[in-house]
Amino acid sequence: MKKMLSGIKPTGRLTLGNYIGAIRNFVNYQDNYELYVFIANMHAITVAQDKTELKKNTKDLIALYLACGLDPNKVTIFLQSDVHEHAELGWIMTCSTYMGELQRMTQYKDKAAKGEIGITAGLFTYPSLMAADILLYDADYVPVGVDQKQHVELTRNLAERFNHRYGDTFTVPEPLIAKVGAKVYSLQDPTKKMSKSEENPKGTIDLLDDPNIAKKKIMSAVTDSIGIVQYDIDTQPGIANLLTILSSLTNESIESITKRYEGKGYGEFKKEVANAVFEFLTNLQKNYVDILKSGLVEQVITEGNMKASKLAAKKLRKVKRKIGFEIF
Ligand code: TYM
Repeated sequence: MKKMLSGIKPTGRLTLGNYIGAIRNFVNYQDNYELYVFIANMHAITVAQDKTELKKNTKDLIALYLACGLDPNKVTIFLQSDVHEHAELGWIMTCSTYMGELQRMTQYKDKAAKGEIGITAGLFTYPSLMAADILLYDADYVPVGVDQKQHVELTRNLAERFNHRYGDTFTVPEPLIAKVGAKVYSLQDPTKKMSKSEENPKGTIDLLDDPNIAKKKIMSAVTDSIGIVQYDIDTQPGIANLLTILSSLTNESIESITKRYEGKGYGEFKKEVANAVFEFLTNLQKNYVDILKSGLVEQVITEGNMKASKLAAKKLRKVKRKIGFEIF
């Protein structure tokens, strides 16, 4: 079975973008791949985090993974900071990464271009840690949204660089980007990514939003004056985004949806999207509450940490030997 790995940062509440761009795909892949999914809490602290919030967001993320349908009998779910090999290999990867490569990473580049102050060294070097996350488990595939593709490409370069220098050590991973939903956009500015850090809460649907409020957010999503329900990301980005959301939540193809709406207006279409989101969130949140009550979160993470640690330790030993850290 081919291996697959991905992670999400426990910063803020998860959005519909995280579900559609990432978690939904993990769930679809769990039967056919050896899947590792983790909580990237070491990445979260590249930006200052409140301790209580971080703890809550971490637990919520585990519960949401399960509530979205990840089956702990099929998937190894673990907490990054509990597997110390990530930090160790992260350092080794940092030492194989050039400053120029990190300067080209968009997250850092955008912040630096805006003249943001207080950018941490961790935020600058985090793509090297992300490479370590992936290479520790010899993942063949990394399912992510479009915004993370650049980091997986850097990981490929780092794996090849290491293999070239020290001999075959790491599997060179491939990013897996879904055809539909790899980038979900803000409901208020459909040219921007829907993001946990967006200032306007009307633009983002949180997975833990009151479903009635989420419905209203869809109804007030920015569209256009063309009036035809069709997929054209350049001239109708708002409608294209709503089509992506509906198609992802219902598994109906975008072509089939647009056909049903021939000759019909946006009002009816938005209502259908709003109802689909309402239904999705209602079911998800019911599962989430049940899971939090059940004690499953602690059990899943304890077992997952053990499995991940075993693999990671074996890989790191090999890396250390290759580098010349093991002297006897
Ligand atoms: P993070 O936490 O920002 O996002 C988690 C996943 O959600 C996807 N995503 C989206 N997809 C579609 N539309 C959106 N609006 C949207 N917003 C977020 C992201 O592409 C991602 O797949 N560095 C990573 C976490 C990480 C990781 C890893 C991922 C750390 N190590 C190793 C894969 C493998 C991050 O910050 O993702």
